[in-house]
Amino acid sequence: RQSNLRVLVDMDGVLCDFELYLLESYKQKYPNEPCIELQDREGFWVKDQYEKLKEGLGANCVNVHNCKGFFKNLPEIPGSIEAVKELSQMENVDVFLCTSPLNYYKYCMQEKYAWVEKHLGKNWLEKIIITKDKTVVNGHVLIDDKPNITGAMLQPSWEHIVFTSCHNTGTNLHGKRRLDNWTDGTWRDLIEEFKKR
Ligand code: TMP
Repeated sequence: RQSNLRVLVDMDGVLCDFELYLLESYKQKYPNEPCIELQDREGFWVKDQYEKLKEGLGANCVNVHNCKGFFKNLPEIPGSIEAVKELSQMENVDVFLCTSPLNYYKYCMQEKYAWVEKHLGKNWLEKIIITKDKTVVNGHVLIDDKPNITGAMLQPSWEHIVFTSCHNTGTNLHGKRRLDNWTDGTWRDLIEEFKKR
């Protein structure tokens, strides 16, 4: 390969624990409403599953993640920070953070930057790619928990590696490969394999 291996890493669900923090914050905000425990989550969109559970609960979810401080305070997915730091130090690898913002951008956008600065450091602000359409981003690998990533490019340059999350454990990935976690070291083997291509 003439260039370095470009690895695109999603934020929500891969670096930051959107699902866990949404559930915790929801329980705090709506203690008397039913909720969906993480082991019962299905489908990418939290609000859709809540709305099916009971009319109006979808809007409650939106209220939770639209709040000031939500994106800034997301906890890290175990091991993610250490892993992407190590990944970025690997020879012939370039890492980019590739994330889709909420249309309600008032807090989300700046807080994503704040999160990266806090957890990874100022230098990483250079690595942020904010886009609603990841198919037009040119990379070799995209690590993302959303099972079905579509957009303007029918055949994106990257291979999508699905990061395992509570909402996709039962999802048919139609042959796509998974990365289950950042903690057992398998991500290193995956990257080494891509580097050899
Ligand atoms: P991602 O595909 O880069 O992880 O983008 C996730 C974006 O979608 C993030 O801004 C949060 C938003 N989102 C919702 O609005 N509702 C949801 O139920 C989920 C899971 C994410």
